[in-house]
Amino acid sequence: MIKLSINGQEKQFDGDGEMPLLWYLRDQLGLTGTKFGCGIAACGACTVHLDGEAVRSCQTPISAAEGSAVTTIEGLDPEGNHPLQKAWRANNVPQCGYCQAGQIMQAAALLKQTPNPSDEDIDSAMWGNICRCGTYVRIRAAIRDAANGV
Ligand code: FES
Ligand code: FES
Repeated sequence: MIKLSINGQEKQFDGDGEMPLLWYLRDQLGLTGTKFGCGIAACGACTVHLDGEAVRSCQTPISAAEGSAVTTIEGLDPEGNHPLQKAWRANNVPQCGYCQAGQIMQAAALLKQTPNPSDEDIDSAMWGNICRCGTYVRIRAAIRDAANGV
C-alpha cells in the first residue's frame, strides 16, 4: 500500500508501484489537467510537483511518491488564481493549451525557489518544457510579470 497526498488529500494506492504517477493522476483520480506528451521525460507536459520540486510524472513511478505531497495544476490554487495563472491570462499565453499546465507547474517550482529569477534563470528552468505552438516569448513575459507582481 502506497500512501501519498494529492493536492492536500490523503490517498492510498494498492497496485503496481512501478506504474507512472501520471497514470494514477489521470486514469484513476481523473486529474486530467496534467497531460501525456512523450512519455520519456522529454517534453514537460506531465510536470507536477513532488514535495515542491517539479518532476516529470510520466517517468516517476508511483512508489517514488510514497509519503510525499504531490501537487497538480488542479491543486496549484483553489480558484486558479496563482500569480502565474493570473499572468498567464493577462498575457494570453496559451495557443492550443496542451503544454500549458506543465509550463505553469515548472514555472511555479522556479518562482518558489527563485522568487525574482533572471532571464537566464527562467531559460534554464524552462528549457525542457516544449511548446509546439511556440508560445515561449509569452511564457517568459508571464513569468516575469508574476515575479514582479504585475
Ligand atoms: S509526457 Fe512526461 S515529459 Fe513528456
Ligand atoms: S500551447 Fe500548444 S503546445 Fe504549447
